Amino acid sequence: MEKKYGNFTIIVKEDYDNASAVAADVITKFVKTNPAGVLGLATGSTPEGTYSKLAEANHAGKVDFSNITTFNLDEYHPISKTNDQSYDYFMRQKLFNHININPSNVHLPNGEADPHAECVAYEAKIEDAGGICLQLLGIGANGHIGFNEPDTHFPKKTHYCALDKSTIIANSRFFESADDVPKNALTMGIGTIFNAKEILLVVTGEGKADIIDKALFGKIDPQVPASILQLHPKVTLVMDKAAAAKISPKL
Ligand code: PGA
Repeated sequence: MEKKYGNFTIIVKEDYDNASAVAADVITKFVKTNPAGVLGLATGSTPEGTYSKLAEANHAGKVDFSNITTFNLDEYHPISKTNDQSYDYFMRQKLFNHININPSNVHLPNGEADPHAECVAYEAKIEDAGGICLQLLGIGANGHIGFNEPDTHFPKKTHYCALDKSTIIANSRFFESADDVPKNALTMGIGTIFNAKEILLVVTGEGKADIIDKALFGKIDPQVPASILQLHPKVTLVMDKAAAAKISPKL
């Protein structure tokens, strides 16, 4: 199913694998038309399928990342790049080690640096690169995008933040215990994300059905950070049927 809803193009596929294939296709098409473009990338369970399909396409010679620049949304702080729970490590394992990207074109917030100076430097690097053309996003069950947690306002720029309790619990599945999850992070701001020319939001699994419904049809509210995307001029929302369960009847 593919439908237009305001500035959203909404694509619903049978399952995670097919949704990941569509997301990878959107990115592949972008890279083909913008071989020196700037891609915003995300971590989490959702994009893993997309990344493995991009790696396959790259191996098959269908897409060339050699001139692409990337900026990731976020990173824990403090965390070392060698920690296997760092997003730096995740991105190398899941994508960068498997595609022909130039390592010097790859950017993540540095979880080892002074957090405040790093946020200013990261935002400046994005600006110097001309801004993000296509930003890949997932959504947290609490509505966060990047680590922009439910709040009283929409943070504008890359900033140092405290993780929401619900995020610490959600992410503890990757750590020994919730106590081992870093309590802070560096994240692009809502403004940084919103400035991307195009957004690719991928949402899968029944656990996301409520929040994506709220984000798309609820009021625009910093308590649901992703709701700001209702105002973005160009969003492609790719879902599996389970995530779309609440939305589909409304389209
Ligand atoms: P998930 O995380 O893909 O692991 O569900 C998404 C997010 O928190 O943005």
